[in-house]
Amino acid sequence: MNAPVAVTETPDWTRYAEGAMVETFADAVLASGARTPFTDLNGALAGISPTDLGIHAARAALSRSGLDPRRIGTTIAGNCIQASFDSLFFARHIGLYAGMPDDRPAHGVQRLCTTGFEAVAQAARATSAGQVEAALAVGTESMSRAPVASFTSRGGFGLGQVEFKDFLWEALFDTGCATAMGGTAENLARLHGVSRAETDAYAAASFARALDAQAAGRFGEEIAPVTEAVFEGPGLKPRRLKLPRKVDAVSQDTHIRPTPIEVLAKLAPVFGGVQTGGNSSAIVDGAAALVVTTARVAAEGGTAPLGRVVAAAAAGVPGEVMGIGPVPAALALMRKLGLRLEDIDLFEINEAFGAQAESVRRALGVPHERFNVNGGAIAFGHPLAATGVRCILSLAMELRRRGLKRGIAGACAGGGQGMAVLVEAA
Ligand SMILES: CC(C)(COP(=O)(O)OP(=O)(O)OC[C@H]1O[C@@H](n2cnc3c(N)ncnc32)[C@H](O)[C@@H]1OP(=O)(O)O)[C@@H](O)C(=O)NCCC(=O)NCCS
Repeated sequence: MNAPVAVTETPDWTRYAEGAMVETFADAVLASGARTPFTDLNGALAGISPTDLGIHAARAALSRSGLDPRRIGTTIAGNCIQASFDSLFFARHIGLYAGMPDDRPAHGVQRLCTTGFEAVAQAARATSAGQVEAALAVGTESMSRAPVASFTSRGGFGLGQVEFKDFLWEALFDTGCATAMGGTAENLARLHGVSRAETDAYAAASFARALDAQAAGRFGEEIAPVTEAVFEGPGLKPRRLKLPRKVDAVSQDTHIRPTPIEVLAKLAPVFGGVQTGGNSSAIVDGAAALVVTTARVAAEGGTAPLGRVVAAAAAGVPGEVMGIGPVPAALALMRKLGLRLEDIDLFEINEAFGAQAESVRRALGVPHERFNVNGGAIAFGHPLAATGVRCILSLAMELRRRGLKRGIAGACAGGGQGMAVLVEAA
């Protein structure tokens, strides 16, 4: 485990907003969305490829939209860890098996933990520019199937020099700044003065809010339960989605559990500071999908739209404090649109780590009551590329539920980036 690097004073995060890339969207309506349950590492969805998780979410989102899949003009799918032998084809296969005609394009995107946001932003750009009348934006991740990989074995290897490594573990380490993702959270804890007790308090609240949301059925509105299925389409070889023996359906997030602060306080630090296995994002499998259309097409679908994607921003920050990324991204977004903090009703920010999420909340100055009101990834997990799509889906649903107008969804990304997306009620 790496020791935290020496970032000695809190940088001026507003300065990082200067370099952000901000884009507004004239006509991007969220017609509908759906996600799989998020299940723990090696849990009930561990045998399913990211492509099949993505097909499941995309089909569910489409069926909720009431739109004929033949109206989908493109599929934009995000995935970080290639976790099946046919994974290079994932975006195309998700589009085709979801019912998109074969004369439409599809492509994959990867912006680490902000990948899902990037997929939605590109879909919003495509509808706003009049390139397509509807786009499928998907994020999918199987962390359980992350390979144990060797990049050098094709050329042979010397005695005792075989190079097989756990890709999941290696993928969570930024070789650029020589810091594990958890180490970057430790740096933020130090810079923003977030103690172990405060990190655990943040995590306990995340679990409590998520438990409440689960019990009240709020996550049930997002989730499309996974059952065994055969995905077919014209001219396509059937794909079989199989669950473990004796499992008929997977319908709930599995990591959410009662987690009092006293239990969290007993867990050992993993990165030499405040972060533990209990107050960090859980490692889970899952996928999420949104149907992005024009206002005109959404009206034809016959179902009430979830909301509108108004703008997106991507910002860069130092790699060793990557978790602060949503701050300059959100600041740039608000500046571009002339909005103040008071104008944003809800924030849905990915909880990569407790100290990271709390640092973001403090740096932006958002009260707890408007920040991750249904808990976050500490409680239900962070399937990397699916997270951005899930955040936007959850935020839009919560705005609608509360009759509120405007929210910002965001996440940090390893290497030192952040994205923020402004969602408004339809
Ligand atoms: C921090 C991390 C390394 C911990 O991994 P891990 O050690 O495999 O985590 P576990 O789930 O086994 O949890 C560790 C311990 O905490 C306990 N624990 C975790 N959550 C708990 C909870 N809610 N209540 C009670 N105990 C809990 C586990 O039971 C386990 O206890 P044990 O060691 O006695 O079995 C891993 O979760 C991680 O890296 N998360 C972040 C992923 C990431 O970087 N994503 C990208 C962000 S940029």
